[in-house]
Amino acid sequence: MVTKIGLDLGYANITVSDASLEVGREPSIAIIDKNTRRIISVGRDALSAENAAEGILVRPFKNGILYSAEFTKEIIREALKVINTSENIRAVVGVPDEFNSKQESELASMVWEEGVNECFFVKRAVAGLIGAGYAPTISAVSVNVGAAKTEIAIIYQGTIIYSATADVGGEDFDEAVQRYILEQGELNISLIDSKAIKEGIGAVWDGRCADPITITGTLALTGNKIKMSVSSEDILGVFEKPLFELLDAVANGVKRIPIDYVEEIFANGIVLTGGGAKLFGLDKMMSKVLGVSVTMANNPEDCVARGLSLVNTFLPIKMRNNGKNITTQLSKYYKSNNKK
Ligand SMILES: Nc1ncnc2c1ncn2[C@@H]1O[C@H](COP(=O)(O)OP(=O)(O)OP(=O)(O)O)[C@@H](O)[C@H]1O
Ligand SMILES: [Mg+2]
Repeated sequence: MVTKIGLDLGYANITVSDASLEVGREPSIAIIDKNTRRIISVGRDALSAENAAEGILVRPFKNGILYSAEFTKEIIREALKVINTSENIRAVVGVPDEFNSKQESELASMVWEEGVNECFFVKRAVAGLIGAGYAPTISAVSVNVGAAKTEIAIIYQGTIIYSATADVGGEDFDEAVQRYILEQGELNISLIDSKAIKEGIGAVWDGRCADPITITGTLALTGNKIKMSVSSEDILGVFEKPLFELLDAVANGVKRIPIDYVEEIFANGIVLTGGGAKLFGLDKMMSKVLGVSVTMANNPEDCVARGLSLVNTFLPIKMRNNGKNITTQLSKYYKSNNKK
């Protein structure tokens, strides 16, 4: 027997989905010693403040590209523990549209070294839509808002006809909160705290009914710890810059849709996936500004991994690394099973 998994290697999280679409997640960070550069801890353990204080925090993936083979393998090893299987593992790994075959083989060899017996690659933009519940023959605009990047793909009948990666993601929104707190209260707070504020009360659209949060920061001048209260309304405007960049990148893709395809693609509109898509009101704001319907996927942060796992489940054994063929095969499956 073979255990089939979907593996999404993100800047903030590695997400693994098994064939039942159960999802496990491990933060994709490592802490390395300041002096020796050896790894102190990886994943969840590395998130703890004590570890972070001792060393330098590194993130091995940005836009799916590897910074360091050593950290990458450690983190993949941590993530695969979630699977807990003695069977052979076959992974379908998500890659950006622009990933080349050299990058694929580098990644494949790391995944192999960590115990995966077979590995295939599928474009994350397509996987995100499949994981969101759409058939692989879909025509739609796939927008995956990650922590570091936003991947935009225009997909016509299952084929990517335009793709772009914008240098904006959830972390830029965290930094906007951090800057605001420094400007308003002259308080320094960590990116971990500003991320929690964004997720807890952040909004880019009116109407988030969340209680204000009291945060503790370090006064920039004296170093004293003091408290400050922040509400959704207080920080509503602080996301303007990253929000504009994100909307601009999506608009750039949307306006390139060939006229003959517009009707079919706009029928499904924009499908939002990725954890960054959960920012309150992002879907409404995008729809209002771009004039296109926007659907936020359920559990958007899980969609890519689940889509990869679904691809894996229906992947013919002999198939090799060719996303297009996989899409074709999947379409056959969906058609024969009367999926939408
Ligand atoms: N409720 C929420 N509100 C706003 N943002 C959220 C929420 N939940 C998660 N996020 C953001 O989602 C981001 C992580 O999403 P995800 O796991 O899809 O990223 P990633 O795949 O690791 O990154 P990338 O795709 O850029 O490599 C973080 O920036 C996090 O703050
Ligand atoms: Mg991602």
